[in-house]
Amino acid sequence: MSIDRRESVHPIFQIENLSIAYRGVVALAPVSLNLRKNAVTALIGPSGCGKTSFLTALNRLTDMIPECRVSGRIRFDGSDLYDPITNVLDVRRRIGMIFQNPTVFPMSIQRNLELPLEEHGLKDRGEKQKRVQKALEDAALWEEVKDRLKENAQSLSGGQQQRLCVARSLILEPEVILMDEPCSALDPLSTRKIEELIHRLRGDYTVIVVTHNLAQARRVADDVAFFWMREQTGFLVEAGSREQLFAQPRHPETQSYVNGLEG
Ligand SMILES: Nc1ncnc2c1ncn2[C@@H]1O[C@H](COP(=O)(O)OP(=O)(O)OP(=O)(O)O)[C@@H](O)[C@H]1O
Ligand SMILES: [Mg+2]
Repeated sequence: MSIDRRESVHPIFQIENLSIAYRGVVALAPVSLNLRKNAVTALIGPSGCGKTSFLTALNRLTDMIPECRVSGRIRFDGSDLYDPITNVLDVRRRIGMIFQNPTVFPMSIQRNLELPLEEHGLKDRGEKQKRVQKALEDAALWEEVKDRLKENAQSLSGGQQQRLCVARSLILEPEVILMDEPCSALDPLSTRKIEELIHRLRGDYTVIVVTHNLAQARRVADDVAFFWMREQTGFLVEAGSREQLFAQPRHPETQSYVNGLEG
């Protein structure tokens, strides 16, 4: 992790007038925002303001939701993410996602990790083994599971399952990891492990994390985007560096929210 990469100012996502509607009802009013490459951006705001919708539009998981309509433009690494010629499987490899509740498959720890590799065409056993170990090491889980790789992943604790989900995403060598409240189902110790993990990913990966926990946003984020809602429609109030957004917010809504007065 070099300082240069960590402090990259290059946007990996250039978002212009992104708007999301479900069954014709606008959930997120047009958002324009750049997200920096290899930085950690936290998305904060009250329940229902469109954070998850925004996040899922970034790797086109919104495609899978019937009656969800995405408009505007997202450039990912310079290319139009919603261009009809964009390969969605490739997009999801490059942009992984971690959900609020760990979603391990009901099979062994090892199979959980081999499966995505096989889906992407890797057959060589030795290479698969190497990648499994590396992903578990990168997700800070290897030491805890190296002697039980054949056990069912559902026998792991919630915190371990969440780190397995991170490993499953890392194994495909993504560039971006989207995390939707990754710690909300976890105890404080597991939460700390995930936060440490986010710290280590920073500089090598772009991390975009939704959190309701403002202290967590202060601990992990380089940049913060604050969403709010009015009459059931979410919108972006402001975005900036962590220091600016928490210490010198430009809008009174942000000031109230970060000081715990609202939300
Ligand atoms: N699949 C869906 N179908 C219909 N409406 C939806 C769907 N998903 C989200 N919405 C609506 O879009 C709005 C924004 O929801 P979203 O889940 O993006 O908010 P959020 O900020 O992530 O909230 P929370 O903090 O509670 O997770 C809400 O009004 C929600 O009801
Ligand atoms: Mg949500």
